[in-house]
Amino acid sequence: MGDKREISRRTFLNYALMGTGGFLAAGMITPMLRFAVDPLLQGHAGGDMVAVGSPDDFGPDPKRVEFKVHTKDGWYESETTLSAWIRKLEDGTILALSPICKHLGCTVDWNTSPDFPNEYFCPCHMGRYAINGEHILGTPPTASLDEYETEIKDGKLYLGAVKANPRAGVSG
Ligand code: FES
Repeated sequence: MGDKREISRRTFLNYALMGTGGFLAAGMITPMLRFAVDPLLQGHAGGDMVAVGSPDDFGPDPKRVEFKVHTKDGWYESETTLSAWIRKLEDGTILALSPICKHLGCTVDWNTSPDFPNEYFCPCHMGRYAINGEHILGTPPTASLDEYETEIKDGKLYLGAVKANPRAGVSG
């Protein structure tokens, strides 16, 4: 009289088939799952630098350049056109400012307001910035224009990611 529990041949076959089926299904589903979520696992391809000309193309006055960046968001890839206002500072370094107003995101222009010459001017709400992007106190923007990371390599100027401009606001 044992406590021996036996399983029937039918039950054994069921278990064996379920096990084999599950193994095969996992083998098929895993690569599909990996394929579906791959872009999420890749991370973002940020940080690419884009050549915008020679450093000698730029002097003390801001000059506008446009350039294209390749962006990849998951499966969606696109070309985006960005612009920057670039000038050479007194010490020879390059400053490349983003034209996006820090108030509500309109686009600023250099030296376009007759009332406020030699400033960046935002026509949306009369936002004003000094030549190095410093926001002018008393106008709507509360931060200075962002700047692009810059790098000079093999005689070319490259722009990278946008970062905060550390310059404080100035009186107008
Ligand atoms: S968006 Fe530029 S001042 Fe408001």
